[in-house]
Amino acid sequence: MSYRVAVVGATGAVGTVMRAKLRERRFPASAIVPFASERSAGRELDGETVRALSDESIQGFDLAIFSAGGATSGEWAPRFVEAGAVVVDNSSKWRRDPEVPLVVAEVNPDALERHKGLIANPNCSTMQLMVALKPIHDAAGIARLNVSTYQSVSGTGVKAVKELEAQTRAALDGRPLPEPTVYPHPIAFNVLGGAGNFAEGDDHTDEERKMMFETRKILGDDELAIAVTCARVPVRNSHSESVSLETREDLSVDEARALLARMPGLELVDDPSRHAYPTALAAAGRDEVLVGRLRRDPTHPRGLQLWVVSDNLLKGAATNAIQIAEVLHERGLIKVPAAA
Ligand code: A2P
Repeated sequence: MSYRVAVVGATGAVGTVMRAKLRERRFPASAIVPFASERSAGRELDGETVRALSDESIQGFDLAIFSAGGATSGEWAPRFVEAGAVVVDNSSKWRRDPEVPLVVAEVNPDALERHKGLIANPNCSTMQLMVALKPIHDAAGIARLNVSTYQSVSGTGVKAVKELEAQTRAALDGRPLPEPTVYPHPIAFNVLGGAGNFAEGDDHTDEERKMMFETRKILGDDELAIAVTCARVPVRNSHSESVSLETREDLSVDEARALLARMPGLELVDDPSRHAYPTALAAAGRDEVLVGRLRRDPTHPRGLQLWVVSDNLLKGAATNAIQIAEVLHERGLIKVPAAA
């Protein structure tokens, strides 16, 4: 079996990695066709001509993997499905739709069985958190969760990486910082305590709301109490997360460590005597979620704390999207159900 695959947003930060991962992981594709905006149409990428989206250009695909923003997914993902392709979408557009499975490959792959053509890839910060929490949730239940994120700029896209670099260069050269255009404050040598945007009247950012909603949907637990602060830090790649949680049933630190050690896609890096814990630089370029600093939260007898780091462009986006495609292939699910 070999599929015709469209990558929509192929020139972007995530789309570029998606194309590379499809090849690196030897996904059975007979063609990988790049799509981007009109601005990029006609350019060559890996020997293929970049296409703009049109009713004609989207015909004849089995699978379309999207990372081109919510507006593009909102308009074009359903059209790809209509044209016969299964869509894996990296934007936030469809994640809240009860008809759309929201899937982390190692965590809830069975949700793919009921897809109706469209599948959502979770938010990058939520993705890595799920890999770390799933074994703990399965073993002892998570009653309450408190997460602070330290998110890199590549999650915002190519423009944000350029903004960090330009501001850093200017600051080091003693020049005035160029005006921020991507973030509301300078990002170089700074920490922004509200990653994402505030909807009118909301005291949480959309990024924080995503983690709250998506965590409950993926773990299938509407009772889970969750508080989140998302911060943006001047790091190119990899999100870091400080996690405090309270389990429903007793779970020792050693038991939690054994569970995490067995979780696919997760690597424990946890030796305080050697200052061994995950860092953003160590996680960058790797597919695994790195977990360390596992310890008892001294404020609660069933409290645990951990530090979770992963490359937001890889497991947080492209790798998981390709893993979803792999599971769909293995289970014979790369077809749009007749009722869709
Ligand atoms: P382009 O490079 O032509 O602008 P990032 O998240 O890194 O900013 O990347 C966004 C991706 O989405 C890019 O590949 C971008 O293409 C693509 N994109 C943006 N708007 C559209 C659109 N209207 N139709 C198709 N692709 C789009």
